[in-house]
Amino acid sequence: MGGGSFVRAVVIAAGLIAGAGAAWAQGAPPAATGERITEWDIPQISTLPDDEFGRLVRFGRSVLEATYAHVGPAVADPAMRFAGNNLACANCHLNDGRKKFGLPLVAADADYPAYSARTARDLTLADRVNQCMIRSMNGRPMPADARPMLALLAYLTVLSTHIPEDAKISGAGAGQMPELDRAADPVRGAGIFRAQCADCHGVSGEGVRRNGADAALGYGVPPLWGADSFNDGAGMSRLMTLANFAHNNMPNGTDWLMPQLSPPDAWDVAAFVESQSRPALAGLERDFPDLLRKPIDAPYGPYADGFSAAQHKYGPYAPIRAEIARLKAEKSSVPNPNLK
Ligand code: HEC
Ligand code: HEC
Repeated sequence: MGGGSFVRAVVIAAGLIAGAGAAWAQGAPPAATGERITEWDIPQISTLPDDEFGRLVRFGRSVLEATYAHVGPAVADPAMRFAGNNLACANCHLNDGRKKFGLPLVAADADYPAYSARTARDLTLADRVNQCMIRSMNGRPMPADARPMLALLAYLTVLSTHIPEDAKISGAGAGQMPELDRAADPVRGAGIFRAQCADCHGVSGEGVRRNGADAALGYGVPPLWGADSFNDGAGMSRLMTLANFAHNNMPNGTDWLMPQLSPPDAWDVAAFVESQSRPALAGLERDFPDLLRKPIDAPYGPYADGFSAAQHKYGPYAPIRAEIARLKAEKSSVPNPNLK
């Protein structure tokens, strides 16, 4: 078992000490299996006691919000430089991981350990955090017992209070708006970017630093491409993720109940962002050893089917999805000689 179960034990202990009256220990009974949890019953971090565990959780929230200041490439202690860019986890996991369709982290502690098709092994929650460190943060893994890691895990444990193991939440991920029956168009997207995004993210997608001289102060608005952005192996490098994220969350402050960008505009502006250059992660060809489980919009090969890399990156996806379904059916109809 990884850090998750250790932290869970700490949470239970802290709950006992705080007593059943603690606001963050109250709440609805766990939902029945299969049912999606719509009302997230997340404790207020400010109600946690000022004890060792409460302080660890608050530190974890700070690592999520100001990642650059704790483990970024410009921090004073070289041993603490785990992230390779000056983003914050919360630039993508919006509202400290508590926003519907803003890549919420509300069920993360309940989701792991889990099998990962990308790495073809079981991941602990610490391993999953490190996937974002290596890809979204373009950095290197943090040891499972490093204090910022323990703090992140403690914070994530609190976010999953009252979420039963393997439960599904509503509002997970970045959403699933209707797809286009054409390829997303980066040229049309460039005009949408200038009109809808450049005021905040900059005409060259470079973002806005809080302080020109001190990178460890991070960004007021994060970059969307270039050397200080997420790398090409990150989840945000997939068109579906970025397009849905933009539809449900951008311009910043938008939420899924009242999106500002129409689906076609969100697909095209996302295509423009994904067409720009960003750091390259080595070894991507080893991701998803079972290619039939690779997301169809992974912007790097190899692929199980004969569709072009451009169609995988920009769509349309329906024909690829149909072909993958056909290949899966074909594969499962071939008798496995190793089975008696
Ligand atoms: C550039 C955007 C971005 C940044 C920055 C980022 N992540 Fe992520 N993260 C993602 C995406 C995209 C996913 C995949 C979500 C999905 O599969 O629905 C993800 C998934 C996760 C998950 C798994 C959630 C689950 O329930 O399966 C965890 C945990 C996580 N991130 C933690 C972190 C932490 C901690 C940091 C900072 C060290 C971080 N992320 C930084 C984009 C980002
Ligand atoms: C009002 C200013 C504003 C506008 C306009 C805006 N953004 Fe953002 N965007 C932000 C801020 C601020 C964040 C970080 C949110 C946070 O940390 O809570 C962000 C985060 C993001 C992220 C995730 C973080 C990253 O570095 O990748 C993406 C992707 C993104 N914006 C895309 C877009 C796109 C595409 C548009 C245009 C359709 C857009 N944004 C318009 C302010 C803005």
